[in-house]
Amino acid sequence: MKQQLESIRNIALQAIEKAEDHQTLENLRIKYLGKKGELTAILKQMGKLSAEERPIIGQLANDIRSAIEETFAVRVSHLKETLLLQKLKHETIDVTLPGKRRELGAKHPLSIVLDEIKEIFIGMGFDIVEGPEVESDYYNFEALNIPKNHPARDTQDTFYINENVVLRTQTSPVQIRTMETRQPPIRIISPGRVYRSDAVDATHSPLFHQIEGLVVDKGITFADLKGTLETFVKRLYGENSVVRFRPHHFPFTEPSAEVDVQCFSCHGDGCRLCKQEGWIEILGCGMVHPKVLKNCGIDPEVFSGFALGMGLERVVMRRYNIDDMRLFYENDIRFLKQF
Ligand code: PHE
Repeated sequence: MKQQLESIRNIALQAIEKAEDHQTLENLRIKYLGKKGELTAILKQMGKLSAEERPIIGQLANDIRSAIEETFAVRVSHLKETLLLQKLKHETIDVTLPGKRRELGAKHPLSIVLDEIKEIFIGMGFDIVEGPEVESDYYNFEALNIPKNHPARDTQDTFYINENVVLRTQTSPVQIRTMETRQPPIRIISPGRVYRSDAVDATHSPLFHQIEGLVVDKGITFADLKGTLETFVKRLYGENSVVRFRPHHFPFTEPSAEVDVQCFSCHGDGCRLCKQEGWIEILGCGMVHPKVLKNCGIDPEVFSGFALGMGLERVVMRRYNIDDMRLFYENDIRFLKQF
């Protein structure tokens, strides 16, 4: 029995020291130390031994059990350490490697100029508000004093979603939404996308951007409109800019005007940039029509206001001397990188 025990010890210790993974180790543990293990099997035969032999063999068996357990523990911690080292080696970061260069994006020219325009108006105390691009016929036309069959509808080739829902053709519906929900004094601008069913060419796109402006308060006059726009144009195009108001017509403003800036390339003499006109049109504006105020529940006897609308693309094209509007929407990085 003594020999049996010693042979178990030798074989077990060797096997444990050779074990390369946790599963093998666990199998060995069961084989030698488990309830049905080899050591236990031998100890069960202790009853057959004489009284003198029993303590000696018992002692030996215990020593062997401890020896196996100890070797086992050492091996487990050794394996854990190896695994950790392997993992760390795998995860090492070589900080001397060159980095992967990220292409830096750039602000879109439309955004650059829009942000500038917003800043100018914010500086004059305006809030920025937004409205939906899918708009009801009522807000886009009706409430703006453009009833069905009004000729002004023909000038804005409209994408109809159904009889009463359109893609907004202008940012002016935001005027209505604002006056319905805010009490004067109102001072807002509203930039956003607008849609018209135009064929694409160098100066037309079915999607473009407008910036609407609206001021409503007691005692607002055309002089406030002129002063605000002159300040705006000088901030945007420089202190020496010259502004001209030309009578015009919009159904939702009365009186109405278009605003031109003297061409900064030829100073009024006429050149290619201004198409020989000396002036460049930049926006439409006017005093809010009393009917429009009434449509929004604002008493035109007490309050008055002005509104303006400008096309963002035109302003940006002039700013950077861009002669084809399509460049804005093609997302060609070679173009976008230049601003
Ligand atoms: N909404 C008009 C257009 O798209 C522009 C405008 C806005 C004119 C506000 C006057 C007042 O042509």
